[in-house]
Amino acid sequence: MQPFRVAIAGLGTVGAETARILMTEAELLGARAGRPVELKAVSARDRSRDRGVDLSGVEWEDDAAALAARDDVDCVLELIGGSEGVAYDLVLGAIRSGKSVVTANKALIAHHGAEIAELCESHDVGLGYEAAVAGGIPIIKSVREGFSGNRIGRIYGILNGTCNYIMTVMRETGRPFEDVLADAQKLGYAEADPSFDVDGIDAAHKLAILSALAFGHHVDFKNVHVEGIRHVSPLDISFAEELGYRIKLLGIAEETGDGVQQRVHPCMVKAETPIGQVEGVFNAVVAEGSAVGTTLSYGRGAGAGPTASAVLADVIDLAACRRVPVFGLPSSKLSPGRTAPVTAL
Ligand code: HSE
Repeated sequence: MQPFRVAIAGLGTVGAETARILMTEAELLGARAGRPVELKAVSARDRSRDRGVDLSGVEWEDDAAALAARDDVDCVLELIGGSEGVAYDLVLGAIRSGKSVVTANKALIAHHGAEIAELCESHDVGLGYEAAVAGGIPIIKSVREGFSGNRIGRIYGILNGTCNYIMTVMRETGRPFEDVLADAQKLGYAEADPSFDVDGIDAAHKLAILSALAFGHHVDFKNVHVEGIRHVSPLDISFAEELGYRIKLLGIAEETGDGVQQRVHPCMVKAETPIGQVEGVFNAVVAEGSAVGTTLSYGRGAGAGPTASAVLADVIDLAACRRVPVFGLPSSKLSPGRTAPVTAL
């Protein structure tokens, strides 16, 4: 059986953990894919850094773009991040050269999802982005494939582990926002630029992707209403607690009759509800489907292991040639988006 040969661009927390699992669990992954899965090449800024992974036998490229050009690679794992520049060029270059792509890059999909999906269709290659939303929770597969027999009325949840971690620790300890954010950065939860987390942008990227999948429209990031958590004080959190509430940064997409409304903002939720009980770096997503009713998916939303878990699930699907349209429908069938303004908050 022909091996499925992968290359990793970016050996940060997630890339290094993905490489480690590819190397140490090769037999299991190969059995699940129905053919060997081989890590062929990697690219990262600093070759000399000790990442705790034995990469002997794996080739290095100094330039990520070179991975897209290699003839001995079937799939490029883009784990660099950022919606423009190197990551954008790499993903488009890989697809144009007939390679499938797996990415954890929510900003890239939120900004360029339509263009990338069309390019995948015209080059007949697959794209996996399970790791882009809610870390280790397989929410892309759930919404796109698991709920494909439903009309979704609403999908919402805690989509940013860093914010949830910060507000949990602030509630438990009364420590100030900046201190707890520094902890989240050390733990590898926060984005390279943590303002993406605390200003709600990261959650908005993820919501835009979920909304497109749930409602069958093109990704419409520019119409997401976004508020972050910088202005939430320990006092707000303790007043909410006295009243039996917790403050959570929620991403909410719902069909309003006038279109789909997408919004990210801090909400007071009853402490005893399932969403109210989600603490720390965990994420949770509630989907309300016409046939299935209300479902809740829960798990770690950030960190090396959970994100690598999602990346590897996509790699195995692509290696096993399991492919569905990027946003669940061919691009030509996605609606342009009927955006309902956020006026009633
Ligand atoms: N910074 C993100 C979070 C990482 O905290 O949820 C996962 O997307």
